[in-house]
Amino acid sequence: MKTTLSTLKKMKQDGAKIAMLTCYDASFATLLDEAGVDILLVGDSLGNVIQGHSTTLPVTVDDMVYHTKAVVRGTQKALVLADLPFASYQASHIQAYENAARLMAAGAEMVKIEGGAVMVDTVDFLVQRGIPVCAHIGLQPQSVHVYGGYKVQGKTETEADILKRDALALQAAGAAMVLMEMVPASVAAEVTESLWVPTIGIGAGVQVDGQVLVLHDMLGVYPGKKARFVKNFMGGGVTSIQGAVEAYVKSVKALSFPTEEHSF
Ligand code: KIV
Ligand code: NA
Repeated sequence: MKTTLSTLKKMKQDGAKIAMLTCYDASFATLLDEAGVDILLVGDSLGNVIQGHSTTLPVTVDDMVYHTKAVVRGTQKALVLADLPFASYQASHIQAYENAARLMAAGAEMVKIEGGAVMVDTVDFLVQRGIPVCAHIGLQPQSVHVYGGYKVQGKTETEADILKRDALALQAAGAAMVLMEMVPASVAAEVTESLWVPTIGIGAGVQVDGQVLVLHDMLGVYPGKKARFVKNFMGGGVTSIQGAVEAYVKSVKALSFPTEEHSF
């Protein structure tokens, strides 16, 4: 049966963990789908792992549409989520709507945007017009030059309070899911507890409703520096990509990934 928003909400209610991975093409989409990955994220991380850029900033809506179409063709069951890239939604609600609509027409079933309180009105605008939105808070890679590097967010009490408030405001605006990147595990746990929509973590500890990793990171094929929250699932006797993805899904569902060594 096709995974939908209702499936994800029910999973949160039942305490069943959501396994998500990034995916950029049809062949991997089929492999991930058959291995039981619940959500395929066509992430703008394709700027890094597919295009070879050092940030996600050069990724265009055309790039996202191309990869979304490929992933959708290879997917039967998983929900396909696509990122709105840098400078495709920040300027106005109308800009956000027009570009989100292109991703939806390409077959995405939800779009993801980076930003906390500043994106509340945009989320409301999109959701009211039929586009499910995942809000991405904590570390927002499209803002890397504001931070001056990829750093843990929400470490001080003030920052953590803002994060918690933003998550509630985004949910109230209609966000269907909240993704938290590189935030202290304790903060992510509090946010997860306070929301009725599912939360997804990356570098956010184990007490969230689901996990995501960049596919190339968890297969150990990305040449860049490995972040603390990454685990290479190709190790430990696993000899196939399919085996690694199945091990990831199993670990997420069993709460055996991430452990403290992958958390902040
Ligand atoms: O683009 C991406 O891969 C992402 C994940 C890191 C969540 O947004
Ligand atoms: Na992204």
